[in-house]
Amino acid sequence: MMEAVVYTVGFEPGILEGVFRFQSLAYILAALLFILALAGLSKQKTARRGNILGVIGMVCALAATIAVAVLGSEQAAAVTVGLMAGAVAIGAAIGVWRAVKVKMTGMPELVAMLHSFVGAAAVLVGFNSFLAQPGAAGAESAFHMGEVGLAVFIGAVTFTGSIVAYLKLSAKISGKPLTLPGRNAINLVMLIASIVLIGCLINSRGVEEGLVPLAILTVLSLVLGAHLVLAIGGGDMPVVVSMLNSYSGWAAAMAGFTLGNDLLIITGALVGSSGAYLSYIMCQSMNRSFVSVILGGFGGDAPKAASGSGEAAELGRYTETTAEDVAEMLKSSKRVMIAPGYGMAVAQAQFPVAELTRRLQDAGVEVAFAVHPVAGRMPGHMNVLLAEAKVPYESVFDLDEVNDDFRDVDTVLVIGANDTVNPSAETEPDSPIAGMPVLRVWNAGRVIVFKRSMGNAGYAGVQNPLFFNENTDMLLGDAKASVDAIVAAL
Ligand code: TAP
Repeated sequence: MMEAVVYTVGFEPGILEGVFRFQSLAYILAALLFILALAGLSKQKTARRGNILGVIGMVCALAATIAVAVLGSEQAAAVTVGLMAGAVAIGAAIGVWRAVKVKMTGMPELVAMLHSFVGAAAVLVGFNSFLAQPGAAGAESAFHMGEVGLAVFIGAVTFTGSIVAYLKLSAKISGKPLTLPGRNAINLVMLIASIVLIGCLINSRGVEEGLVPLAILTVLSLVLGAHLVLAIGGGDMPVVVSMLNSYSGWAAAMAGFTLGNDLLIITGALVGSSGAYLSYIMCQSMNRSFVSVILGGFGGDAPKAASGSGEAAELGRYTETTAEDVAEMLKSSKRVMIAPGYGMAVAQAQFPVAELTRRLQDAGVEVAFAVHPVAGRMPGHMNVLLAEAKVPYESVFDLDEVNDDFRDVDTVLVIGANDTVNPSAETEPDSPIAGMPVLRVWNAGRVIVFKRSMGNAGYAGVQNPLFFNENTDMLLGDAKASVDAIVAAL
């Protein structure tokens, strides 16, 4: 590489050595900043700092990569800079436009779409690397062909898998799992065939010999990615997105190997391992095994739950309340706990909820938030919304911290949560959410549930006996409108 730069640009070797040293230093600094960014993102208080460190790391990495690419280019520096600036400008404009437009509830599908780009990039880098340096005799070439095969395999699986995830999450195709007969065997055959094809690629000599296995491998991996995610039901889609995040990391790491770029390898490995760990934590919080999520076939479109006013099949009667009555109840409470869920995100009720919290705290009522680890549709969903509405971190508690405290709470407001407060997870062994840890809100003196109608179940599609308890009142309607009405009544 250095020799090529000397030849084309005519720099003195000393200067070039400096440039490459600068690149190595910048890459080490960027890698460190990425690790610090991940550490910062693990806590709310340090998340902003973590984000900034990540941005600085990415600027360092980009600056070093662009500088070396410009110096190493065979064409005039102005042309390379122009081409790169054009590509960056188009990409950045589309990225900013999408990021500004996306609603918080649409984040998982945007993330799924972005993963597909990483997958596509890994496939293209793999092909480019193959064409530039096709198979030859020797261990080094065999290793290189192995890297190319893996980059194309993981990249293609990530690409189609992410596109299907995007289509499912945005309801452009059905969320139901596609359960073809013998689907696990089909996946296994495709996996084994892919391994064999990578073997053929490793043993190939020249473009002509290697292109056929590479092309078949690409098509097979594209089909495998789509089939894997098509088999997974709506309920498990957030885990799938985090899994695809992990795959996209490994795809980037493989692309790093083929490009000989250490920073890409480190960054890919960071994304790959943190995505895998996140998927594992999400599975644990939902009491699902990682393997059963990957094998698919679970969950689907949520079935309708009870319907009718005042009564629901087999579970007895429910009682409705009004915003004015809830306001009175809150005024006479000493301790109030708020359990937010997906419905708070849909209604964008976090701002009036924060206002309600302030009013109650000013009136001497103790108010705290109980946040379930999988409340909402992505990890930390509720924490982000509450932070956005400037609810102090000290008032926000995790399930483990507060689950034994509900007995001492006068009133619980369940705002758009359903599965995460469903007692059947503890009492019905056959329930799809059996064993999932839940917030034991029913132990409180009074429970007010905010939801729009009795006709819809939660994400897992199961009925919630909590709504029919004697100490539960339903406040039906959009959560934002209901909380606004309570604040007005206060
Ligand atoms: P859900 O069980 O999904 O229930 C949402 C509730 O909000 C429903 O009762 C719904 O009833 C109500 N709702 C929706 N829009 C509303 C609005 N505008 N105003 C008032 N209420 C509204 O929510 P959850 O308790 O947060 O549980 C999350 C679920 O997602 C769990 O099953 C979890 O396993 C799953 N999940 C989460 C994650 C992550 S990482 N967060 C990952 C995978 C799976 P109506 O439609 O009648 O209003």
